[in-house]
Amino acid sequence: MRDRLIGRMPSPADLVATVCRRSEFGALQWLMVLGVALLVGGCGTKSRVAADPEIAAAVQLRQHSFSELDTLYKSLGNAIRKGEPLQDNPAVQSAVAQLASYAADLPQWFASGTGPESGADTDAKAEIWLEHADFDRKAEALRVESGRLLQIHAQGSAAAFGEQLEAVGVACKSCHKKYRVDDGV
Ligand code: HEC
Repeated sequence: MRDRLIGRMPSPADLVATVCRRSEFGALQWLMVLGVALLVGGCGTKSRVAADPEIAAAVQLRQHSFSELDTLYKSLGNAIRKGEPLQDNPAVQSAVAQLASYAADLPQWFASGTGPESGADTDAKAEIWLEHADFDRKAEALRVESGRLLQIHAQGSAAAFGEQLEAVGVACKSCHKKYRVDDGV
């Protein structure tokens, strides 16, 4: 083994290997340059070309609707925590109905062209429009769980209501995890 390693002349295979190592190094450098370029480009995404005002408005409306949905969802959680009556309580009744109505409208908030490629300040991922069938299933899950919440509320069991509100929260999270930039809620 030692003999073979010591005093060996570079063979054609060694030369080829050296050239390959060199070009590998070149490719690596090139990749680094590309990486830096992507990084710079990526950091600039939020402040790049201003979005079409109509699209920017649609995105703002979507975000506004989500924060309304969030307020409704949290108000119900708070009502449970504070032990407020769930029945004959107009605030709860109205929140449950509005939540179901927002959930049913959700798919309409994602018109094509309102993704990150528009330049709008959005946390919606491009995958929403690339994996539309899956996204729709997640939106549908929220619609179904919110509909159940409405039904359970009408039936009047506080324990079942709390459980169902959790199921609604799971539907929110399952979509955010995959399709929203910041995993909130
Ligand atoms: C089918 C997918 C989906 C479901 C279900 C969903 N969200 Fe979202 N949510 C999103 C996406 C995508 C965004 C990013 C929107 C944007 O920035 O344009 C978002 C944004 C938000 C925001 C931030 C709004 C803002 O001001 O920027 C809140 C709050 C929120 N969602 C709450 C909820 C709650 C609460 C639920 C459940 C009751 C829920 N979401 C269900 C996809 C979903």
